[in-house]
Amino acid sequence: MKTIISSSSPSALETDSLVAVVLDESNSASGEKDKKPELKVATSDPALQAAAADLLVSGEVSGKLFETNLLHKPASLKAKRLLLVSGGSAKKFSSYELRRLAGAAVRTLKGRGIRSFTFAAPPEIPSEEAVRAIIEGAHVGNFDPDYYRSDRKDQKIDEVTVVAAGDTKALESAANEARIIGESQNFTRDLVNEPSNRMTPTILGERAKKMCAEVGLKCEVYGADKIKELKMGAFWSVAQGSDEPPALIIMTYEPAGAPAKPVVGLVGKGITFDTGGISIKPADGMEKMKYDMAGGATMIGAMRAIALLKPKVKVIGIVCATENMPSGKAQKPGDVQIAMSGKSIEIINTDAEGRLVLADGLHYARQLGCTHLVDAATLTGAVVVALGYANAGIFANDDDMYNRFKQANAKAGEKMWRLPLDDEYKDMIRSSIADIMNSGGRWGGAVTAAMFLKEFAEDTPWIHLDIAGTAWMEDQKPWIAKGPSGIALRSLVEFVKGFAPAS
Ligand code: BES
Ligand code: MN
Ligand code: ZN
Repeated sequence: MKTIISSSSPSALETDSLVAVVLDESNSASGEKDKKPELKVATSDPALQAAAADLLVSGEVSGKLFETNLLHKPASLKAKRLLLVSGGSAKKFSSYELRRLAGAAVRTLKGRGIRSFTFAAPPEIPSEEAVRAIIEGAHVGNFDPDYYRSDRKDQKIDEVTVVAAGDTKALESAANEARIIGESQNFTRDLVNEPSNRMTPTILGERAKKMCAEVGLKCEVYGADKIKELKMGAFWSVAQGSDEPPALIIMTYEPAGAPAKPVVGLVGKGITFDTGGISIKPADGMEKMKYDMAGGATMIGAMRAIALLKPKVKVIGIVCATENMPSGKAQKPGDVQIAMSGKSIEIINTDAEGRLVLADGLHYARQLGCTHLVDAATLTGAVVVALGYANAGIFANDDDMYNRFKQANAKAGEKMWRLPLDDEYKDMIRSSIADIMNSGGRWGGAVTAAMFLKEFAEDTPWIHLDIAGTAWMEDQKPWIAKGPSGIALRSLVEFVKGFAPAS
C-alpha cells in the first residue's frame, strides 16, 4: 500500500473518499440511558465539519465505535465521498481505537471497490502517533485470507493519504515505518493462513530464506541431522514422528554500529500442524491446528520489519518448525527425552509438544549469546480458558524485562495480560522418573506450560507470549478479517526498537 502524507486541509483534497472520525463529546460516563450523543467531526477544518453537520444533528447517528456513514458529493468538499467512522466517546478515544477505525475504513471502502482514500488524522491524537496508528490499522484491514476461493474479489486499497498537521518530513518517516510494520504483519498472516499441506516446515524455511535474502538478513535453515547433532532431544522427539522433515530456522540481524549487548533472541513455535501426536486431538476443530506455527511466523515477520527499520540492536530469530504427528516412529506417553540443556523430560502427553520444541529453541538462543529472550507460541488451550480471545498471555521471569515489554506493547496497541510464574506451580511439573514432566495436567495449564519453558530460559531475562487465543480471529470484526491476526509482531518490533541506543 502506497502511503502519502499531506498537510493541506482535508476539504481541499481531491480524493475518492475522505475518511473522518466522529467523536461523542457527551459525558457518557454519567450512564443516563437516553442521553443524546453530542457528535463532532474530529477535525479543525470548518468545511469538513460543515459537510457532516446536518447528518450529525439528524438523530440518525449513534456515534458508537465502528459505526460508518457514507455521504456522496459532500457539500463544500473536493472529495467524491465522505466516510464518517464513529470512534465512540471522545474521552476514551486513543490511538488504540484510531488504529482499528482505520482498519474499519479500509474494509468498508474496499468492499465497495474503492482503491484509494484520504484519512483526516484527528487532532486529538499527536500527529506522529496518529499517522502510525492509521497506517498500521489500514494495513491490518487490507488483508483478506480467501486466497483459494475461485470467486476471490481481491479488492484491496492501493493508496492511502493521511492528512495531518506537523513536520511533513517527520510524519513521512513515521508513515514509512508504519508501512513496514503493517506489511510485515500481513507477511506473517500470509504464512499463518496457509494450510499445512502448503506450509510444511521445509516451505516455512524456504519462505524465511527468501525473505531474509530480500531484506539482507543472514539465514540458516537446518534439518534433522543438525538437530540431532546439536542434541536437541526435545525438538527431535516431536519431529521424529513425522515424515515431513523438520526445519530449524536461524535469522541473524547484526547491524553495523550496534553495541555487543544486548542480543535479543526471538524464539517461535513453528508446529505446521498439531494432530496431538499419539495423544491425538479430537477431530472436531482439528483443522485449526494449521495455525500452530503462528509464533514462528510472527518471529519471521518481526525479523523482516527489524531488518527494514534498522534499529542498532542485535537480534537473532529462531523458529523450531515441525509437524506433530502420530506414526510408528512417534514418541509415546511415558517416553523420556533429554533436552539440549541436559534436562530430562518425561513425556506425559504428546500433545504438549510446543514446549518441547521451544525448550531447545530457548536453550540454543542462549548458547548463541542472546542476553534477552522472547518467545511466542500458540502454546495452550488453557490460556484461551483464562483470557479468552481478547488478551494474549504474558509471562516473565524478570520485572524489568516485563516493564520494558509492557511499554512496547501499549505503544503497539496490542492487548496482553500478565499471568503468574510462582514457584508453587513448579511442583505440578515435577516427575518421579525425570527432571520435569511436559504436562502439569488441567489446572493452570497456561502457567505450568510457561513454568516448563522457564526451566530452559534459566537466568536469562525472558518473556513468554501465549497467543493461542489471539493469533486467529474466530470471527471477522469491522477492522479485521476472520483468520490470522498477526498478533504480537508490532509489540516485538517496538520492544526491539526500545533497546536501540539514543542517536
Ligand atoms: N497447539 C496446542 C494449543 C492450542 C489450543 C493452540 C487451541 C491454539 C488453540 C498445544 O500444542 C496443545 O495441544 N496444548 C495442550 C497441552 C496439554 C496437552 C497439556 C492443551 O492446551 O490442551
Ligand atoms: Mn499440541
Ligand atoms: Zn501445539
